[in-house]
Amino acid sequence: MEGQLDRIRRDSLKNKVVSAEEAASWIEDGMTLGLSGFTRAGDAKAIPEALVKRAETETFKVNVFTGASLGHDIDKLFTEAGIVDKRLPFQADPTMRKGINNGELLFVDHHLSNTSELVRGGVLPQIDIAVIEAVAIAEDGSIIPSTSIGNSLIYAEHAKAIIVEINVAHSEEWEGVHDIYDPGVLGDREPIPLKHPDERIGTYGIPIDPEKIAGIVLTEEYDSFSTIDQPDDETEVMAEHLLQFLRSEIKAGRLTNELAPLQSGIGSQANAVLHGMINSEFENLELYSEVLQDSVFELIDAGKVKSASCTSITVTEERMNKLRNNLSFYKEKIVMRPQEISNHPEVIRRLGTISINTALEFDIYGNVNSTHVTGTKMMNGIGGSGDFARNARLAIFVTKSLAKKGAISSCVPFVSHVDHTEHDVDIIVTEQGYADLRGLAPKERVPLIINQCAHPSFRDELWAYYEEAALRGGHTPHILEKALSWHIRLSETGTMRESKEGVTHQ
Ligand code: COA
Repeated sequence: MEGQLDRIRRDSLKNKVVSAEEAASWIEDGMTLGLSGFTRAGDAKAIPEALVKRAETETFKVNVFTGASLGHDIDKLFTEAGIVDKRLPFQADPTMRKGINNGELLFVDHHLSNTSELVRGGVLPQIDIAVIEAVAIAEDGSIIPSTSIGNSLIYAEHAKAIIVEINVAHSEEWEGVHDIYDPGVLGDREPIPLKHPDERIGTYGIPIDPEKIAGIVLTEEYDSFSTIDQPDDETEVMAEHLLQFLRSEIKAGRLTNELAPLQSGIGSQANAVLHGMINSEFENLELYSEVLQDSVFELIDAGKVKSASCTSITVTEERMNKLRNNLSFYKEKIVMRPQEISNHPEVIRRLGTISINTALEFDIYGNVNSTHVTGTKMMNGIGGSGDFARNARLAIFVTKSLAKKGAISSCVPFVSHVDHTEHDVDIIVTEQGYADLRGLAPKERVPLIINQCAHPSFRDELWAYYEEAALRGGHTPHILEKALSWHIRLSETGTMRESKEGVTHQ
């Protein structure tokens, strides 16, 4: 306790230490909570757990706003306890996913750069209590975040009261990684002065009025580790196709072998594709990304990375151990920002990022669905993929050409939900190849997408659809009554295939 109290460097706040149970007791039915946490990193842990415990004997509901998904099964426990009215802006938990799709709670899926604007503009309900994980509270009262920033700045600024969870499992050495910057209100704002991914434009801590700190809870609990799958044969081939495309850009004089600031989305596939750069000729790479997954640290270890900007670090246990043991080395390369800045359209366009995100499905004209299975069931959310795709120099979407052991084709006549329209999708990459859609009319995209990205076992049927549609004419030919027939077949029979024979692919 003595050593832990040293993390509160402002003496007048030392008497604010309370138990998680006491802090959780201040949360009332109907309140809106702003929790720190982004893709399992830097999440408030003790108070959400104490809140779940309270639900064993009390009935209440709260709105839960975060940066993105949470660790420690918090979303699962919240759902099982039935205490969430509305959740935003992202989640990735199977139990909560089921709850959302069953109508047990409301979920708002929006671009991750937008939460701050909605809070600042008073569109969302005011945050009653912000719960922010920190490694320390500085002498001036500012909060030094831990392994993510996410929406912590905006929640702390706009909350009526703040509870800080000081987590001593995180080293104080994290201080100095963060770069806290608030762009100000819409319509009365200067350009964000960020011209290079490694620039610092803000402060180390979240500046707040110390009087707003209602309580401080001392905790000692590591972040949950990432659960991504390791690269496999197909993702290695996808990475090779992507490298081939990037080489063609260099040959055309549009890139050098330092490329451009890279963004890589969450999940196993985007991580695996970035991993594929380890043995490439590319060097001095810069990342301007949302989450740093294992592959970024592998690239740093391989001497390929100059700097990496992010809002969160989410890695496997092995990687986290390496990171902890060599934090001073990695710290030199990393800048962590609020998600409003890591994902800001203005900055992304200025830097000209190469953005690699994952699709669930894409269609023959290049529309991409990243969120809704068969157009209806929420997977995780759009996350930052739209922030980047709309504004990147190169908006690249990767996915395997088949899902669910071959029952599903990722390439369909018409996506069942549109997250990224044909206007925002530059390159599609699967293990079959890549399609460069830039500057092409819809009809020119079709052969590239079908022949280079779709799985061969679905190509004939895709061509049959397109040829029949083309007879009807139009700029983007469709047979509306058949456009979603593959999804209907999937819902009715469990496969998009006409016969189950093709469902053998592993
Ligand atoms: N139809 C139905 N299910 C599909 C599918 C399709 N067309 N394509 C993939 N899936 C399923 C997979 O079978 C897998 O299911 P499982 O969890 O039951 O095994 C699941 O979707 C995840 O697919 P996986 O192959 O493991 O890929 P991933 O870990 O790379 O995740 C997304 C892919 C699309 C779900 C994930 O990247 C995501 O949520 N993206 C949206 C947000 C985003 O892009 N954020 C980045 C911004 S920085």
